[in-house]
Amino acid sequence: MSDFKITDKKTTIYLGDNSLQKLNSFLKKHYEHSRKFLIVDENSLKYCYNKVIPFLKDIKNIEIIEIDKGEKNKNLTIVEQVCEVLLEFEADRSSIILNLGGGIIGDIGGFVASIYKRGIDFIQIPTTLLSQVDASVGGKVAVNVGHLKNQAGSFNMPKAVFIYPDFIKTLPKKEFASGMAEMLKHGLIADKNHWEMIHPKNIDIDLIYQSVCIKQSIVQLDPYEKNERKKLNFGHTVGHAIESYFISKKRKTLHGFAVVAGMLIESNLSYQLKLINKNTLTQITTKLDSLYSRLTIEEDEIPHLISLMKNDKKNFSNQINFTLLKNIGEAEINCQVNEDEIIKSLKAYIAVCQ
Ligand SMILES: NC(=O)c1ccc[n+]([C@@H]2O[C@H](COP(=O)([O-])OP(=O)(O)OC[C@H]3O[C@@H](n4cnc5c(N)ncnc54)[C@H](O)[C@@H]3O)[C@@H](O)[C@H]2O)c1
Repeated sequence: MSDFKITDKKTTIYLGDNSLQKLNSFLKKHYEHSRKFLIVDENSLKYCYNKVIPFLKDIKNIEIIEIDKGEKNKNLTIVEQVCEVLLEFEADRSSIILNLGGGIIGDIGGFVASIYKRGIDFIQIPTTLLSQVDASVGGKVAVNVGHLKNQAGSFNMPKAVFIYPDFIKTLPKKEFASGMAEMLKHGLIADKNHWEMIHPKNIDIDLIYQSVCIKQSIVQLDPYEKNERKKLNFGHTVGHAIESYFISKKRKTLHGFAVVAGMLIESNLSYQLKLINKNTLTQITTKLDSLYSRLTIEEDEIPHLISLMKNDKKNFSNQINFTLLKNIGEAEINCQVNEDEIIKSLKAYIAVCQ
């Protein structure tokens, strides 16, 4: 049995088989008299709530708020609805939100916590691999506006994160693969050994811990994404454009799969800009292609993707701003790339699917 604790000034991350025990003592110690609102979706209610109940049974004042699952619900309407429920239950400024779910519950609940009555406390209890290794860590919370990803949000650190690895046992295979994509990204930007170790058969508590540490150490250096934290955006400039485009067309994909496409295309860009050599590009492409199928994108959709990239939050001076790779395990931030090069990399990705 392994248990890990990562602490910084603003938050504590508990990871391991005892993390729900820690949740119990944390709530008793800091929030005994507070109203508590546990936000779930149908799957976290079905698969995870029963595992949490034994650790909540002597905790008073808990209400459950269930919201519909899925990216299409990560929007301002849901945020308003959750605020209305909080008002109905007379939640005050000493109340706390407990997000039990994947990245979508964490993002919605965390955003509500940052605006309800100008801000209340929240904690993350992530139940998907993606939210355990990535979304619950670092205090970025946001919802989509229209089909554009994460356009309304804030930086808001949870008071604590409780990562119980057992939750991921009930995840559908594709959700597991989606989460593993962010672990691969952590390896590509910061730790070659981590990248090499990641394989569906190897994912265990130690690799989850390593991935959380990579993310947390980057966030600690630069919580508000002025510099270092931009490294975590590798794969996401293109990935978010693809995800937003797919949402607008009601085509299904998962966040991690869009990020894999983004990592393939942005690795190709890194090669075009001579930041990495052919051999490194081949190593990255071979591993990602062995683990994930390519998304179907047509050449005539490229202009839509470029236009979405132009809307990316990370841009400045009207230039699309990328984080690219200098090597496996090393990222370069603030890379300005011209449109022709982006188109070339998108075409190279598409060519493999045809
Ligand atoms: N805030 C951040 O820093 C950050 C970082 C990365 C991604 N994200 C966001 O996270 C979202 C994706 O998160 P996600 O992949 O966790 O998606 P998700 O929250 O939709 O969860 C995926 C699916 O798994 C189900 N589920 C959750 N826990 C389960 C369990 N234990 N067993 C079975 N099913 C379970 C959910 O109901 C859902 O259907 C995206 O919106 C993305 O933008 C945020």
